[in-house]
Amino acid sequence: SIYSISALILAYFLGSIPTAVWIGKAFYKIDIREYGSGNAGATNTFRVLGKKAGIPVMLIDILKGYVATNLAYFIGVSTTGNVQSVVFINYMLALGITAVMGHLFPIFAGFRGGKGIATLFGMVLAINLHAALLCVIVFIVILLITRYVSLSSIVAGFVYPIAVAFIFPVYIKSVVIYGMCMCVLILVTHQKNIERLLKGKESKVNLFKKKAA
Ligand code: G3P
Repeated sequence: SIYSISALILAYFLGSIPTAVWIGKAFYKIDIREYGSGNAGATNTFRVLGKKAGIPVMLIDILKGYVATNLAYFIGVSTTGNVQSVVFINYMLALGITAVMGHLFPIFAGFRGGKGIATLFGMVLAINLHAALLCVIVFIVILLITRYVSLSSIVAGFVYPIAVAFIFPVYIKSVVIYGMCMCVLILVTHQKNIERLLKGKESKVNLFKKKAA
């Protein structure tokens, strides 16, 4: 329907909000994409500008995915059946993926965005709270051990389909399939990180240090 198409467009625009780029430009007069890893995401903002900028970018990027996915409620249960229905969940998945695409290819920042981890997490949070929390725990544990955000993101991403398939089973198969596609997407967006990890050249985050560009 016209409503569902409008919601998808809105999800793309929401995902397109280039939080890292805008916060960098507004408060630090820099384009974050010219520093650090060159990525327009929360991790690189944290790395280059410190937690005062990094934390808001992370929260807003998570919120984008969360809100976009929940736009499904707007279109309503009337068109998609009840909130437990296959159609409804698939619609949530479509909205979330669209927001992630917006984050990767933002219309408001020359289509050069981030890697989508925070926005993906927002989507997962909207769909399956338990699986989302498990991913966070795994992410934090790997981060504390290795201090590689990229590695933590990749491992947490792989935990998701396992979680929805076996640990907190979702009866709607598309969620598991989506989770597997998500892993592929994460591997694609993290290609350079993977190369650096293999060479032992990936940068580690200073979790407890302040920094400014
Ligand atoms: O969220 C993206 C993260 O996994 C890697 O970011 O800046 O280290 O490439 P970055």
